[in-house]
Amino acid sequence: MPMNSTNSLDSQDFSVLPDIGRDIFTAPLKRPAHVGEDWLEPAQAIYSADENAIWDDLFSRQMAILPGRACSALLRGLDTLDLGRGGVPEFGRLSAELGALTGWSVVPVPMLIPDHVFFWHLANRRFPAGNFIRTRETFDYIEQPDVFHDVFGHVPLLTDPMFADYIQAYGRAGWKAMRHNRLKALGALYWYTVEFGLIMEDGEPRIYGAGISSGPREAVFALEGQSPNRIMLNVDRVMRTDYVIDDLQPSYFVIESFADLYHQTVERDFDRIYRHLGPGFTYANAAVLDIDHLLHRGTQEYFLRGGRGSNADPV
Ligand code: PHE
Ligand code: FE
Repeated sequence: MPMNSTNSLDSQDFSVLPDIGRDIFTAPLKRPAHVGEDWLEPAQAIYSADENAIWDDLFSRQMAILPGRACSALLRGLDTLDLGRGGVPEFGRLSAELGALTGWSVVPVPMLIPDHVFFWHLANRRFPAGNFIRTRETFDYIEQPDVFHDVFGHVPLLTDPMFADYIQAYGRAGWKAMRHNRLKALGALYWYTVEFGLIMEDGEPRIYGAGISSGPREAVFALEGQSPNRIMLNVDRVMRTDYVIDDLQPSYFVIESFADLYHQTVERDFDRIYRHLGPGFTYANAAVLDIDHLLHRGTQEYFLRGGRGSNADPV
């Protein structure tokens, strides 16, 4: 597909790590001594038998939940990559298989990495994945994305050519967002699509977001819960919408198809959006607006009861 003609990014060299201006706000992450500017680990971790068993148990738990809930592209990707062969998948093998399909690879990183480094890897079709796995104690919920979230959640959809292109374009989009100092807005788009997106299939929402597909509670809550809003995706709106990073989502945004997502994002010039955006978010994460194409108006009961901290049941 052609890039939009007004796109000044055409002249950008995406192979080199972007410079971040001093006035651009980025999370203050401390780079571990053993990684360089690219934040890449020298090698994938070697997992113990117990850790490999954690992968296997997480894998079977999700595979019991996803059929009938995940979109067909995600189920197809899971099938193609066969991530349940036993233990944490080997990144070399995964990268070879993915590479042959869409040119993507999977590379190990120690933890969450800075935005500009993340954009740079995505722009070069490298997906950074955590080089560690959660413990039995944090089996149900982790704060840092581990190898299960990253590989089980994100990698299967990288077998889909259009989604694979979307993620690369998203990485490239980081350069422009940094120039406009609008990383939060672009981050909200990632959150409500790549992490927590739903997609219409056979007239019903299905899961494609990795934050949903890699967790047992959210996979059910996002689709069947009465509590959360389900709203058709509108990029301008979503980029103005706050989000929660440590609980189930009050709102999920739904796309018609990956082609719809591509039209709304890749084929659109974000300069115009960024110029009109304020520096902070305009809408609360639970808000329903007049302009929304609403599929389900959430009761927000789960959050009214206090959410995660209160041990409220997701309803
Ligand atoms: N078209 C967007 C821009 O002009 C780039 C983009 C692609 C943004 C994919 C998000 C996702 O900046
Ligand atoms: Fe993720």
